[in-house]
Amino acid sequence: MVRVPCASEECGFAGAVRAGLGARPKSLPCRFFYDDEGSRLFEEICSLPEYYATRTEREILLRAAPEIAEAAGAGTALAELGSGSSAKTKLLIEALLARQDELHYVPIDISTAFLEESSRALLGRFPRLRITAIGGEYLDAVPHLPPRDGPLLCLFLGGNVGNLEEEEASAFLAGVASGLSPRDRLLVGFDRLKERTVIERAYDDRAGVTAAFNRNLLTRINRELGGEFDLDAFDHAAPFVAERSRIEMHLVSRRPQEVRVAALGQTFSFDRGETIHTENSHKYDRAGIDRLCETAGLTVVRLWSDPREWFSLVLLAPVRGREA
Ligand code: AVJ
Repeated sequence: MVRVPCASEECGFAGAVRAGLGARPKSLPCRFFYDDEGSRLFEEICSLPEYYATRTEREILLRAAPEIAEAAGAGTALAELGSGSSAKTKLLIEALLARQDELHYVPIDISTAFLEESSRALLGRFPRLRITAIGGEYLDAVPHLPPRDGPLLCLFLGGNVGNLEEEEASAFLAGVASGLSPRDRLLVGFDRLKERTVIERAYDDRAGVTAAFNRNLLTRINRELGGEFDLDAFDHAAPFVAERSRIEMHLVSRRPQEVRVAALGQTFSFDRGETIHTENSHKYDRAGIDRLCETAGLTVVRLWSDPREWFSLVLLAPVRGREA
């Protein structure tokens, strides 16, 4: 396992909490959701009846994997940004191994425990698979993709691109694109714009798992930084903000309160109704996908969707690849 240090200023949890809770409006970066408990809660979200994204992407992959493997070309290596449990990736690994003798898989994820566990499981299941696991924030890991002889198929699944603002997303995809050679391909999962109620239910499920996932950030501050957050004093809110085509997750203070965080030597005050903005999840229409990819220097090779067009998998090539 290779570990990549975080490049940004507020990469540590303490620094991010100090900056995020000290600002107005308050916010926390969504990457901090994924400690062990948060990763477990996210897996639980993925199988909720309301959370269509994982299931739909899997359904598309089930059908498209052989075509994707064929489009990737002979002797392909596979990389994955934000691999999580690699559950969906199995389908692509199978499809690639059906066409070539061996496969080098490079999963990159912030949750190293998950990475370790899922890599071991994959190695046990696929004897012709070789894995180089990279522990780190996927935004920093692109320059660390291993050298290769054949083409690379790089996966960015799950709708994770939706966490980024449009400008950040195009800068990130442009960064990935610049690390690709003309024959390499990038496969990105986009959550599509759809009826508001369907989207909002997916982020405010009846069982309250998403609310627990959101509040886990406060639990994490309490445990890791000696915070004194009363979890019952914050509501989970996840409105769809149509003007920005995104779900916003917030933790809303139910009353005016002061919360001390010992490790920071600081107390943060909250007005009643004041929120901590914890995540954005952008939903894309086809024009938005095209616009984003074009500004990132990528061209759409193929796009697969489910019949309802709730989710799309988009196979992309670097634009200069067309000229090569
Ligand atoms: C893993 C970032 C794609 O935005 O849908 C699920 C995370 N947050 N429920 C998403 C998430 C709340 C998820 N992504």
